[in-house]
Amino acid sequence: MPKVTIDDISLEVPLGTTILQAARMIGQNVPPAMCYYSKLEGSGGKCRTCLVQVVAGSYKDPRPMPKLVASCRTTVMDGMEVRNTTSSEVQEARKGVTEFLLANHPLDCPVCDQAGECKLQDLSYEHGLSKSRYEFKRREFDRIDIGDKIQLHMNRCILCYRCTQVAEQLTPERVHGVLHRGEHSEISTMIEKAIDNDFSGNMIDVCPVGALTDKTFRFKSRVWFTKPVFAHRNCPGCEGKVTLWYQGSEVLRVTSRKDKWGEAESFICNSCRFDHKKTEDWVIEGPAKIDSHSVISQNHMKFELPVIQPLLTTENEQTA
Ligand code: SF4
Ligand code: FES
Repeated sequence: MPKVTIDDISLEVPLGTTILQAARMIGQNVPPAMCYYSKLEGSGGKCRTCLVQVVAGSYKDPRPMPKLVASCRTTVMDGMEVRNTTSSEVQEARKGVTEFLLANHPLDCPVCDQAGECKLQDLSYEHGLSKSRYEFKRREFDRIDIGDKIQLHMNRCILCYRCTQVAEQLTPERVHGVLHRGEHSEISTMIEKAIDNDFSGNMIDVCPVGALTDKTFRFKSRVWFTKPVFAHRNCPGCEGKVTLWYQGSEVLRVTSRKDKWGEAESFICNSCRFDHKKTEDWVIEGPAKIDSHSVISQNHMKFELPVIQPLLTTENEQTA
């Protein structure tokens, strides 16, 4: 079991563990990850937000690595020493990466459905500049219709490739991908064909920004005004474990359940996501666990389960 030290905390990890996975095992000082997704094979290595400094390569070769490395793609070696939050070089680089990601990203959080759940919003809050230094025109794309359930807003895409990996790994037939290269790269369906298969909705959940959003939820509410509830149903297509997002007694949207790293615990089918939006379709388990740092937790003090409490009968009232 190789031993790794990250920001002065040591841990022994299984062979083949990456620095990012080791940091998640420690549970502190975890680098942000905009493209890595543990449930998607081959993810990571695109966004550079997870850069860390390796100050000692291993016991055998304790020389520092000459450049910052992507923690999601670098495997731990026995005796490796890593700095994340304790390295000013890493913090400086992360600011640069954030600025780079925002160079073309529209600052439309006030109208974006992803606001409150957006990893880029969190990143810019922690590392972003208050004013853009970018003087050129941002990239703009024509709207592309990819069906009646999913909205693609390409101007917001950071090209993390997660959605294409979902399509490739979860759906039988991938009909979209990254077209062109460099500045002109864009997510598109080659022939503007609707993405219509049972698991396509998971692209919405894995998208770290507001480039892929749920058309059935669009502009209905800010996410922090909704109340998330864990629920399940006996679904023949998937595990059927979801989060229902309530406003009053109305289910505004259905999503997968997210773990503490913001990843889906299990992918859900489109039938659960889009076709079952009534309380009676589900067995309600209780309030969803939301990280207290998240703006969504703001409503939790006022949380009420959408269950109609039986009224006291006259007899009960008398007993009471
Ligand atoms: S649309 Fe979203 S998930 Fe797909 S590449 Fe762009 S940012 Fe990533
Ligand atoms: S999360 Fe490591 S490069 Fe994107």
